[in-house]
Order: sequence, then C-alpha cells, then structure tokens
Amino acid sequence: MSRPAEWLRAAVRAVPPYTPGEQPGADRRTIKLNTNENPYPPSEAVLRALHDAVDARIRLYPDPESVALREEASRLYDVPVDHIMVGNGSDELLALLLRALVDPGERVAFPVPTYSLYETLVAVQGGAIVEMPWPADWSVPAGLAEAGAKLTFLCNPNSPSGTFLPTPEIETLARRVAGVLVVDEAYVDFAPANALRLVGRCANVVVLRTLSKSYSLAGLRVGLAFALPELLRGLRTVKDSYNVNRLSQAAALAALKDQTTVRANVARVRRTRARLTAALRERGYVVPDSAANFVLARRPGVDQAPVARALAARDILVRHFTTHGLGDALRITVGTDDEIDALLAAL
Ligand SMILES: Cc1ncc(COP(=O)(O)O)c(C=O)c1O
Repeated sequence: MSRPAEWLRAAVRAVPPYTPGEQPGADRRTIKLNTNENPYPPSEAVLRALHDAVDARIRLYPDPESVALREEASRLYDVPVDHIMVGNGSDELLALLLRALVDPGERVAFPVPTYSLYETLVAVQGGAIVEMPWPADWSVPAGLAEAGAKLTFLCNPNSPSGTFLPTPEIETLARRVAGVLVVDEAYVDFAPANALRLVGRCANVVVLRTLSKSYSLAGLRVGLAFALPELLRGLRTVKDSYNVNRLSQAAALAALKDQTTVRANVARVRRTRARLTAALRERGYVVPDSAANFVLARRPGVDQAPVARALAARDILVRHFTTHGLGDALRITVGTDDEIDALLAAL
C-alpha cells in the first residue's frame, strides 16, 4: 500500500465518479437544456424567505429534523409528519437508502436506461447491480419483481425516456417484489398521477420527491422521502446530523406554501413540452410521450453525438448518453418557449 489510489476501497476505485450534465456557470447566453432544471424562477415569496433567513442565525446549526418543512409537507401531501424525511436533494436520500439497506453483494434491481446515479451508488456500496432493459412499450420489465433484489428502483416518470407507469402497475410491482421498492418521483409534478398513496398501503414503498424540478430550487438541494417511520429511522441513523442547511429549509418551506407559482410553471412547461414533442416528430425524430419536463428524441441508428456537439457550439446544451443504446438519442429539457424556438431553429 504505497500509492494513494490503493488506499481507496476496491469498490470505490473501480467506479468512475458520476458525471452530471455540464454546468456552464452563470453565462446567460447558454441555453441550458441538459439537466432538467426549471426554466422559470421560484416565486418572490421564496426569494423573500431566503433573504429573511440571511442573518446572524446562520452561526447556529439548522434544525436537524427539518420539522417546520416536514409539517408543511404533511399538510400539503396529507401524509403524517413521521412518514416524511428531508434530504440534501433526493440524491442524498438515494445514497442513504443504499447505506441503510444494502449490504455488500446484495442485489439492487432497476429497469434501464434510467437515472444513471443508481448504478454508481450501488457499485460504491458493493451491491450487485441487476439491470432489466425496458421493453419497447416502456412497461414494467418482465422479471423485475422476481430479481431477488433487496432494493428495487423505479424512476417514474423515467429519465431519460420521460415515460410514465400508472399507479396500479406500481402497486402490483410493490406487492410482488421481495424487498423495498423506491419510486423516484423527481419529475412527477409534470405527470398525470403519482404513487404517494402507496406509502403506508404497501409497507415496502418509499416515494422520493425533489424541489429541484417543479419548484425551481435545484441550487438549494432539497428532497423529500415518504415511507413508514421504521424505514425512515434507519435513514436518519446514517445521515449527517445537519443534512439540510438553514437557508434551504426556509426557502423550501416558502416554496411548498406557494402552490400557485408551481402550478403555473408546471402548466407552462407542459404546454411547451407538447409543442416541442410535435415539432421534433415533424422533423423525423421518434419521441415517446413524456410525462416529465424533458423529452427523449431519437433518430434510430443515427449517432446524435455530432448533433449535440453542433448545438453546444451554438451555446445550446442538451444531454447525449452513450450507454444502454442511447447513442442515437438526445434528451432535451423543456425550456422557455423562446429557448425551444432557438433549439428547433438550430436543429
Ligand atoms: C430521476 C432523478 N432522481 C433524482 C434526481 C436528483 O434530484 P435532486 O436535485 O433532488 O438531488 C434527479 C436529478 O436530475 C433525477 O433525474
């Protein structure tokens, strides 16, 4: 043991760091359609709450249990406070689930392609990754429930496809899997339904939400987990004591209280999504119906890397993946109408 890399755990050494979409700084010229942020700002009330929280109290640690925020979420979603936990983004909650539930060698199953962080987190934990390809109609893969997994991830709406599974199909899956089913609903506010009512009804269901997408707060890192208290207790055991900072708790509380702004922004994104989908199909792209704030545009068999590069040269960022047969596709975040017009003109 002499070289620094050898000090790393073997599982960590073997896994490249997760590659997020490019973040080009605050350059206003860039049209950023690569990481599924909301193109519209949060409300004035949220910005005011943030300003009001900036004072000498920041010398104090934040509430470790985010109680005020959980109470507001409880009212909004009609879920008991002790069934809710707040994370530093839903990414933290995903990592906590792995740490709390998965021993080395235990199986973690998920349909692919999906949110690629799952794979990184499972590999780092030393779990056994069980990938099940989505069928052509994006329904629940046959065999997913029988994978013998301690943990099963279902991203719904799924990224990068934007496709959506109705809640009864998720309930059927939840009743058939042996372990815990995590329904990652990062994009569900843009979808026609959600699976929150399964929490409690199926003891093994965990639902994850984020304020990064519909609530326009990606920069503050706030996610919510909904599950039975016995499960959340384990997540609290493995979390940082002060995992959600004071400013984020204040802003998130104001954001949950202001449903008018969120509903208006979601409605605008949905309208633009319909227009973008139709325009891409007219241009020959195959685009599954999306229930999220992005679309997957595919030209079967035609590598889209040069297209992504050419768009980047025009300061338009979209996401191009090279794994799971996605080389012929672009994932495009639904931006403002002006941004989408610029994208379509450039295409
Ligand atoms: C499916 C999915 N889950 C979770 C996240 C992470 O969200 P957060 O910003 O709350 O960490 C993302 C972010 O892009 C995502 O696409």
